[in-house]
Formats: sequence, C-alpha cells, structure tokens
Amino acid sequence: MKILYCAPYEGERDIAEQALEGHDVLFTDQPVRTEIPEEHRDAEALSVFVDSVVTKEMIDSMPNLKVIALRSTGFDHVDHAHAREKGITVSYVPHYGSQTVAEYAFALMLALSRKAYAAYDALRSDGSRDVKKYEGFDLKGKTLGVIGTGAIGRHSVSIAQGFGMKVIAYDLYPNEEFAAESDIVYKESVQEVLAESDIVTLHVPSSPENHHMINAESLAGAKKGIYVINTARGDLVDTVALTQAIQSGQVAGAGLDVYEGEKFITDEMELLAQDVEIGEAVWRSFAAEHALLDMPNVIVTPHVAFNSVEAKKEITDTTTDNILKGLGEEAQNEVPH
Ligand code: NAI
Repeated sequence: MKILYCAPYEGERDIAEQALEGHDVLFTDQPVRTEIPEEHRDAEALSVFVDSVVTKEMIDSMPNLKVIALRSTGFDHVDHAHAREKGITVSYVPHYGSQTVAEYAFALMLALSRKAYAAYDALRSDGSRDVKKYEGFDLKGKTLGVIGTGAIGRHSVSIAQGFGMKVIAYDLYPNEEFAAESDIVYKESVQEVLAESDIVTLHVPSSPENHHMINAESLAGAKKGIYVINTARGDLVDTVALTQAIQSGQVAGAGLDVYEGEKFITDEMELLAQDVEIGEAVWRSFAAEHALLDMPNVIVTPHVAFNSVEAKKEITDTTTDNILKGLGEEAQNEVPH
C-alpha cells in the first residue's frame, strides 16, 4: 500500500522503511501545511509530525486514505473529527520516553549531589583543581519523594531503589499494587512527602489544580535542605518562592528542565520541529526574573529531558505499528473522541 510519511527526523527514515517493508513508502523532506502534493494524493496512509497541519480539504483530497498516523502525543494539528466521520482511522503516540525522562531526573539529581558539572566547568575555564570545593553527598540512604507515580514516576522509583534510596510517594490515585510490589509508602499529601524528603521529584501533569503545587507555604514546611527536581511542567513550581527558599537555605538546590511560562508546550516533540521556536526572550526573562541560572546549587536545562535516541525510536515504532494495524483494520491508539 502507498504510505506518505512527511518530514521524518534525522535517522527516522531507515527505521520506518524497515518496519514498513513491503509497502510503497514515500518520504517528504517538508511537512504538509496547506495541501497534499498532487502526486501523493492516492496514498492510503499519511503520517505527520506536529510541524504539519492536516485540514478537512487535505483529507478530502486523498480519496484512498484509510489511516492518519500522528507521530506525537498532541493531535490538535489534524482535523481528526472530520477524518473519523469519513471512516479514516486517526492514531497517535499516547506515551513515549518514560524511562528517558526518569533517567534525566537523575541526571539533574546527580549533577547537584556530586557537582560534576561545576568541577568540570572550573577545570576547563581556569584549570582549577580545588577538590575541597566539590564535596557532594551520596544518594544511597537518602529519602526521595516522588510526586506522581504514573509512567515516569514509577521509573524514577525503580532507579532510586537501584541507588539504595528510600522512596516515599504521593499520587491523587495511589497505585497500591505498585506500592506493594516496589515496597514504597504512599503519603496522604504533597506536604507530608516534602516534610520527609531529602530530594523531591515532580512527575505530575500541568493542570489548574496542580498550578504552584510547590509554593512558599509548602516549601516552608519541607525538610530543611531539600532539593527540588522538576522535569514535569514549569507551572507546578512557584519559581519566585523557590528562588527565595534557595536564597534562605530552606531549599538546598534545584534541578529544573522546565520553567513557568512555557505552559503552552503540550508536546515535547514540538521543540524539535524547525519552525516551532521558544523565543530567546522567553528563556532570558525566566532566567533574569528568577535569578536561578546564576545560583551555584541550581542546574537549569532547556526542556530536553525527553530527547533521547530511544524515546524518538519509540515514537517511530509506535507510529509504524499504528499504520500497519490501521491498514489491517485493527486500529490501535486512536485519538480520543
Ligand atoms: P502519567 O499520566 O503517566 O502520570 C501522571 C500521574 O500524576 C498520574 O498517576 C496522576 O494520578 C498523578 N497526578 C496528577 N495530578 C496529581 C496531583 N495533584 N498530585 C499527585 N498526583 C497527581 O504521566 P507521565 O507520562 O508520568 O508524565 C508526567 C509528566 O511529565 C507529564 O504530564 C509531562 O508534563 C511531563 N513530561 C516532561 C517531559 C520533558 O521532556 N521534560 C517529557 C514527557 C513528559
């Protein structure tokens, strides 16, 4: 069957070609935005990333279309309701990179606990080898508070246990089976977790209810010297309150991959699309406003936790499987109605 696969990321073409062997797969360099190239309108499947837009007219221009496979968790860029009305399967990638993001939370944690980046930076910039400056602490024996035990939070629990940490957790919907299997304790509130944790890591989505779940009050009631790790969404943390708590010593440090104000990011893969830019001004204003970048006990990265070879391959694998299943009339991972 003919499959139109638009604008794959570097290296994706080989993986997709192999998975879709036996089909006539056409790769375009550019996303589609206003129309489907005339010579490809006879395709039976169409796969797009978040940099494409698929309108009603574009769908109507493809008479043989059976499947639209989105290579993203977001699906606003496609008129999926119209496609569904026409009996076309629209699939997406509901989850990817859970292990990837959990590993990154530990990259931030270790950067803080062992000061590896600071030691490297000083060595590189002025040859400084002042070992005394880089005293760190072991993760082993420390208590990690995991807020949100969904896909990413559960991986964080198992990595923490590999380090010999004690894990406590909070989730709106505690997973008691997981707690029993992994020998963790659920607390009754975020506050209880903060009060007992040496390090807290956030793995909950952004929502009006979760806005500033970490704030001045909750930080005041946290264990003194706690470290805060956020790889989830920026608006979970009141950044001003966090900065003040670090300045006062109540919080020992923070590892942040996400910031307040970038709440318009719904799908990490958008950050890889060439024409979706998070303006420099936005990043600069965060940095300036919150003064975090200059703090030695803070590490800040530009929303990169999702970006691994494996996470992207997971997207391609899920997508090609969605295409094959959809063409075989066993649709899976359909976008929610
Ligand atoms: P998930 O949906 O599997 O798990 C989220 C968990 O949070 C659920 O168990 C839910 O019950 C819980 N929860 C929601 N609100 C809560 C609250 N107020 N208190 C306690 N628990 C609460 O989501 P997953 O895949 O683990 O992802 C977590 C978040 O990580 C995503 O929502 C996303 O914002 C972020 N993320 C960040 C990435 C990055 O590159 N920095 C990449 C991928 C995801």
